[in-house]
Amino acid sequence: MTASETRPLTAVRRFPPDFLWGAATAAYQIEGAAAEDGRTPSIWDTFSHTPGKVFQGHNGDVAVDHYHRFREDVRLMGELGLNAYRFSVSWSRVQPTGRGPAVQKGLDFYRRLVDELLAAGIEPALTLYHWDLPQELEDAGGWPERATAERFAAYAGLVADALGDRVTRWTTLNEPWCSAFLGYGSGVHAPGRTDPVAALRAAHHLNLGHGLAVRALRAALPAGAKLAVSLNLHEVRPLTASAADREAARRIDTVGNGVWLGPMLEGGYPEELFADTAHLTDWAFVRDGDTETAGQPLDWLGVNYYTPTVVSRVAEGEEKPQDDGHGNSAHSPWPGADDVAFHQADGARTAMGWPVDPAGLHDLLTRLSARYPGLPLVVSENGAAYEDVVGPDGSVHDPERAAYVHAHLEAVHRAVADGAAVTGYFLWSLLDNFEWAYGYAKRFGAVHVDYGTLARTPKSSARWYARVARSGELCA
Ligand code: NOJ
Repeated sequence: MTASETRPLTAVRRFPPDFLWGAATAAYQIEGAAAEDGRTPSIWDTFSHTPGKVFQGHNGDVAVDHYHRFREDVRLMGELGLNAYRFSVSWSRVQPTGRGPAVQKGLDFYRRLVDELLAAGIEPALTLYHWDLPQELEDAGGWPERATAERFAAYAGLVADALGDRVTRWTTLNEPWCSAFLGYGSGVHAPGRTDPVAALRAAHHLNLGHGLAVRALRAALPAGAKLAVSLNLHEVRPLTASAADREAARRIDTVGNGVWLGPMLEGGYPEELFADTAHLTDWAFVRDGDTETAGQPLDWLGVNYYTPTVVSRVAEGEEKPQDDGHGNSAHSPWPGADDVAFHQADGARTAMGWPVDPAGLHDLLTRLSARYPGLPLVVSENGAAYEDVVGPDGSVHDPERAAYVHAHLEAVHRAVADGAAVTGYFLWSLLDNFEWAYGYAKRFGAVHVDYGTLARTPKSSARWYARVARSGELCA
């Protein structure tokens, strides 16, 4: 008998029985109803209404109208075979202006949504902050100011009091790197500031806000609540093995990853971060006890992954490739890394221009799991935008998206086989939606949305994902 005769015809990859099969969204990207039931503007309302900030002036006023269509959307989740759904709460909907008591109508919306999910057997995974700071808090200084971290913890307590009886899985922040460095550094995200010191101050106050919020959640939630943060950890690779490129990678790893993992999981900021940014700030805004606060024990870690980050070091005077995949700006979102250049690998790319590289997800998960043994990991976002074409019958056939997700699930499976404690996967995204500075031009959804009629149509990738989610198996 030859080896090929003994090999099964289709290799089936089986995932653990209690694996979370989810999809993810965020409030500003899908809800709409921007001025309803007492909601006040967030920084994304202001930013998207500022000419020149978002592609063709798109905004989230209506988005995909999830606020009014959530029941239909939960039905779609059922069709997708999901057993978990990750969404975020709009801070300005439940605590307009970011201060004071909660608004009942805002909380009621999330209660209804959660009840609908639970009735459908879908576990809610609630994110408290997915980038939409109440505008009044930005007017008072925003994340560069310490008070915002305190406000965030108070808001976390309000949401926990209202939903703690029905939501077990909580996330404080989504991708604080984007809030700090794209929001206050490169300015391609709201509030659009371009000040590297403000970006570093924001990073610290996001860390502090995370820790204060975890404390507030623990005090308000029943035992058994599962608390986390979702980070877009950069899988950083040096372009070559040269010492200079390896140093560039070390720098980006520090300001991209260590800036969060240090205080949240390792007891403090990496010393190199202070050294790399010493020409910008003395970090005097870090007070005694802050890093202990930021380092509250967590029950799981959310990992958002799309593509790796390939870097090299440029010598003075040399031309610098700039494409780090995070939008165009004359201002860098990487404080202290002015001599680092970014490269996009050749080969397949998504409509965002991001190279498809599932091995990066495997490597990231296995490394994190080895570094933080006992901390379950969840892929809290992974997915792809493609130029979807609607057929004459209204259907969308998107084999590239299914292939992207298939390859990344294979990478997750391989990471689990290699010992990584990965307990779930959330596809970004359930629906086509407002892709931040790209507006509605980039579609990440498993479900197509017609922006004229707001009609939802599952794409062929949604039907494929439903088979995987229902069976817990990935076929070759
Ligand atoms: C990360 C963000 O959390 C999400 O809001 C965004 O739409 C996706 N990545 C795709 O860029």
